[in-house]
Amino acid sequence: MDVYTLFPTISTAFIVISAVLVGIGWGLIIKGKREAHKKTMIAAAIAAILFFIIYSSRTVFIGNTSWGGPDNLKGYYQTFLIFHIILATVAAVFGLTTLVLGFKEKYAKHRKLGRITAVIWFFTAITGVAVYVLLYILYPGGHTQAVWKVIWGY
Ligand code: HEM
Repeated sequence: MDVYTLFPTISTAFIVISAVLVGIGWGLIIKGKREAHKKTMIAAAIAAILFFIIYSSRTVFIGNTSWGGPDNLKGYYQTFLIFHIILATVAAVFGLTTLVLGFKEKYAKHRKLGRITAVIWFFTAITGVAVYVLLYILYPGGHTQAVWKVIWGY
């Protein structure tokens, strides 16, 4: 596996791990295990942060990969990618708010928002894996260019 595929593989794995932890954490609170819920959700947040660090450093130092599949599918891919990015951004904002509400013990609000956050995060993970499969497994061969190379015109 080359460096262009390795980092996206690791970062996608972290989204999946994070979503699985959110699922486990939800199950724990349904069983009334508050402390275990808290620890599992913090672990889910750490996995999400690791995803973001790997993803953004890859964007800066290695680059983003463009669509390598057939031209007639490019529009659909681009639309799907934007949908995934919007979901991930909303999930990040909701996730932080849910965590803060949990720490502040505002449980009624936390419970309401937590459910929405968890569902959005599940869809983020599913669409994230789909983007990964489309870009690196089904149609490999897109061009990867570092952001700083683009900026400095290398
Ligand atoms: C982003 C991370 C988190 C998510 C997505 C999340 C999600 C949820 C969900 C979905 C519920 C409602 C369960 C249900 O009734 O169906 C819930 C309840 C709860 N959460 Fe979290 N949670 C997170 C982090 C935390 C943290 C960090 C704490 C503690 C500091 C915490 C403490 C609680 C407690 C005590 C309840 C039960 C509230 C009640 O009894 O009304 N959660 N959470």
